[in-house]
Parts: sequence; C-alpha cells; structure tokens
Amino acid sequence: MKVVWIAYPGGAAAKQVPELLGCAENALGLREFVAAKGHELVSTSETGPALEPLLAEATVVIATPFWPAYITRERLAKMPNVRLLLTAGVGSDHFDLAAAAERGLTVAEVTGSNVVSVAEHVVLQILALVRNFVPGYQEVVSGGWDIAKVAARSHDLEGMTVGIVGMGRIGQRVAERLRPFDVKVLYYDNRRLSTVEEGVLEVRYRSLDALLPACDVVSINAPLTPATDRLFNAARLAKMKRGAYLVNTARGRIVDTAALVEALQSGQLAGYAGDVWYPQPAPKDHPWRTMPHHAMTPHVSGTTLEAQARYAAGIRDCLERFFDGQPLDRDYLIVEKGKVVSPSYSYAFG
Ligand code: NAI
Repeated sequence: MKVVWIAYPGGAAAKQVPELLGCAENALGLREFVAAKGHELVSTSETGPALEPLLAEATVVIATPFWPAYITRERLAKMPNVRLLLTAGVGSDHFDLAAAAERGLTVAEVTGSNVVSVAEHVVLQILALVRNFVPGYQEVVSGGWDIAKVAARSHDLEGMTVGIVGMGRIGQRVAERLRPFDVKVLYYDNRRLSTVEEGVLEVRYRSLDALLPACDVVSINAPLTPATDRLFNAARLAKMKRGAYLVNTARGRIVDTAALVEALQSGQLAGYAGDVWYPQPAPKDHPWRTMPHHAMTPHVSGTTLEAQARYAAGIRDCLERFFDGQPLDRDYLIVEKGKVVSPSYSYAFG
C-alpha cells in the first residue's frame, strides 16, 4: 500500500531538530515503521497539481492542517485506491467530509493531540491584543521609545468579559487558563455543557446573539463546518461590542476575510489575532497580513514540538490498526461507514 504524507517543508531544521516530526522530510518518524509493515511511505510538500499523480496511487493520505492539501470531491474522484484519510493534528476540514462519507472512506484525526498547545496560544494572543504587545515590541526593534503610542491602546485583561464560541477540548482549556486573570467567561456551543461542567469551569451559557454584544474579547474554538463557514460575517462582527477583540485559532474561513479588515479599519474591532488563514499558506498579499491592529502568526499554535510528538504517536496508532485490519480508536473517528460520526462535526449533508 502507498501512504502519502503531505506536510510543510522542514528545510535545514528537518535535520537540525529531529523532533520536528511534522515536516515532510521527517514524516512523523514513521518511515521505518511503515516499511517494516511492508508498505511504502512517500512524503511531499506539493499541494497543487503536482500532488495529483501521488494521490492517484495512495491508499492512505495523511495531511496536516498547518500546510493543508485540500482533498476536494474532485480530487477524491481521481483517487481510486484511497481508503483512509488521516489528519496529523485536529481539524479535518481540508478533506471534503461529505464526499469521503459517500465514498465509504474512513476519516480520522488525532483528537486531543494539540489542544493544550492551542489553548496556550489563545491566552498568549488575547494578552498580546489587550496589552498592545506587538506595537510595543515594534517600538523596541525600531529604536524608538514612544510610551504614549503604545500605552494609549493598552489595557488590563482583569475585569473583562471573554466569550468562547465552541466549548470543546480547546475552549474548556482556554476557560481554565483564563481563571487567574479574574475575567467573566461566557460561552456558546451548539451542545450545551452540563450544569456541573459549567460550575467547574465557572462559565455561563449564552446564545451567540446574546454573547457577541456582551464580550470584550471573543475566542473562536469551533470546527469549520457548513454551519460555521463565515459565521463571523459583517453582520455578526457588527453585533460585537464596539472596540472588542477577536481571537481565532479555529479556522480562517470561520471569519469573513473582507468584513474583518473593514471592522478593524472602522474601529468596530480593536484587534484581531489567531493563526489560521484561508487559504494556507496565506499568499503574500493576503489582506490579513497588512490589516491594522492584528497580532497574527502563521498556523503554528497546534504544532509545538510536544504536540508533534503526540500527533505522530496518534498517526502511528491509526496506521498500525489499519494495516492489521483492526478498527481505529473511536475518539479519532470523524467519518466512518458513510457517516460523519464525530459529534463535533455533526451536520447533515445531502
Ligand atoms: P472539539 O471537537 O473538542 O470541540 C469543538 C466544539 O465546537 C464542540 O464542543 C462542538 O460542539 C462545537 N461546535 C461545533 N459546531 C459548532 C457550531 N456550529 N457552533 C458552536 N459550536 C460548535 O475540538 P477541539 O479539539 O476543541 O478543536 C476545535 C477546533 O480548533 C478544531 O476543529 C480545529 O479546527 C481547531 N484547531 C486548531 C489548531 C491550530 O493549530 N490552530 C489545532 C487544533 C485544533
């Protein structure tokens, strides 16, 4: 069987940092394991048309959200051998899940593998925005000392209201990590937590319409599905409190590209941060690179070296079970036997 691994190029770091398992060259540290099982692992950073001859031969495709190969319905139609689609990480929207289900394929991701990594990044980016960190840093490296310029947009997080949209594994960890900052936390999710869970996390449920105008900071932590695609459009951004901050480490397409730029230019939003873009890699002229008051990174929050070790181990577990004809870990399954089975991705398709 041919296993195709598509990931970002590691360059010089691939050799210098062997723990950089998630790059194309280091292939999750699984090259020898796959060969020992009698199969072939091919790695590439190609995501465009040059990838297609490899896809045509693949039985297993392993993709990563950080350098996504968009496996569309059209591409799947040209992949006669494919049986298993795996995400090295969390978030499988780069696969057309409805088309995969119709084909009877299995789709899985390494649930939980990088949720702490992302939650830490969310807290980092909330603080970066509220404290106006990036302009302060730029002042230092540019040789300046303009205190007024930086301080005029710098606030304490303490006392603010933070809204979490998508209270799953990451959302809950963000809520836990925000506790010592003495903020009030509201959340919206299409599956409400139990009263006990809400009590333990010290969070209160609101509808999305009620949450948006009540929050100084909103963090998006829901998957990209048909229901969340451009959920934060011009109308929803307008419902947010004027001068609020928005952090999105979920998926770029949950926020409307042009509407966000407009909201930052008009002052409707005071700042935006996150690490997810659409498309990825973001083109050099992507408007979010140059919009005002942002503190964005490339898509790195879920790929710390520790996260890479965890999702590499999860992919190894999936491959081992697949090669041995065993069912995959239930927690990892997104699509199975013609259905989207993950509750987090639960949506109907025709
Ligand atoms: P999870 O599955 O534990 O939680 C997702 C939550 O979103 C669930 O509680 C679900 O009910 C909720 N949800 C689903 N549809 C919704 C909707 N329409 N409205 C409101 N809530 C909705 O997933 P986890 O691990 O917390 O990850 C969340 C997302 O974060 C992933 O799907 C992925 O897109 C993104 N992610 C980003 C990473 C990065 O490196 N930036 C790394 C890992 C995940």
